[in-house]
Amino acid sequence: MKILLLGRNGQVGWELQRSLAPLGEVVALDRHGADYCGDLSDLDGIAETVRQVRPGVIVNAAAYTAVDKAESEPELAHTVNGLAPGVLAHEAKRLGALLVHYSTDYVFAGDGETPWREADPVAPLSVYGRTKLEGERAIAALTSNHLIFRTSWVYAARGGNFAKTMLRLAGERERLTVIDDQFGAPTGAELIADVTAHAVSQAMGNSRLRGIYHLAAGGTTTWNAYARFVIASALELGATLKAGAEAVDPVPTSAFPTPAKRPHNSRLDTSKLQADFGLALPPWQQGVARMLSEIL
Ligand SMILES: NC(=O)c1ccc[n+]([C@@H]2O[C@H](COP(=O)([O-])OP(=O)(O)OC[C@H]3O[C@@H](n4cnc5c(N)ncnc54)[C@H](OP(=O)(O)O)[C@@H]3O)[C@@H](O)[C@H]2O)c1
Repeated sequence: MKILLLGRNGQVGWELQRSLAPLGEVVALDRHGADYCGDLSDLDGIAETVRQVRPGVIVNAAAYTAVDKAESEPELAHTVNGLAPGVLAHEAKRLGALLVHYSTDYVFAGDGETPWREADPVAPLSVYGRTKLEGERAIAALTSNHLIFRTSWVYAARGGNFAKTMLRLAGERERLTVIDDQFGAPTGAELIADVTAHAVSQAMGNSRLRGIYHLAAGGTTTWNAYARFVIASALELGATLKAGAEAVDPVPTSAFPTPAKRPHNSRLDTSKLQADFGLALPPWQQGVARMLSEIL
């Protein structure tokens, strides 16, 4: 089986290069692909890439993910997140290929306390959320042969992440202030990539396994409790920090104004994914602890 992977150097894309490898030949592209166009803002180029590669599965891990910048670059975000998935869906349909794509809890308004289910009403608060929703809708309108995984609060050991920022700040200061009124589950790119590979493998043999699925680590936390967990775990691992977990003060989201509005409730109900694919999603602390032991 030939798999076309787009966005190979992103958090999820990087891990997908590893997890998809046992499923077949992976043609992995980034935005600056040498042999093929991997730039999602070049809609004709992306269509041509699919026609040339002729994959059985397309996995799109590329996206315009700069949530705040999207407020001032709505056209580019619309092209990459809204239009390009439609082009991929059109080309996938022509080939009879499965299209795997990622979306976000930012398609929801983020009110209430109940974990969002796949069929709940959407109402994005930001340009990023609106463009990601456009992408979902473009795919669904063009091919039923798709898997869309909505995820949340993604981190990876590679590159910058929230945990590294907290560790740096805790190394420099005696007290930290971190938001305590947004709720979600930090989800490792490794977990997303591993679940994707399992899901693709099962979906190739079962045409009923299609559609939108929520994919996030188990449990719920806040950015504040996440920061405290990171600092406490780092201290246990022997890190030298000025601030301990008790020195992370809670503040509301309004204390850190940002161009894009964030949802307060990013909880995702993953029971459909777990039931349909027979998979278990471990508690968020497990992946974060593993990532910390890799970076410390
Ligand atoms: N990160 C999160 O917290 C989060 C939460 C929920 C859902 N998601 C979704 O999960 C998926 C994977 O996200 P991630 O965390 O892996 O994001 P990421 O680390 O920001 O990676 C996104 C990748 O897309 C690439 N990209 C951006 N514009 C492109 C373009 N025009 N053409 C080709 N590639 C382009 C980026 O390349 P450059 O490095 O060259 O810019 C980057 O490698 C995305 O669909 C995202 O919307 C993410």
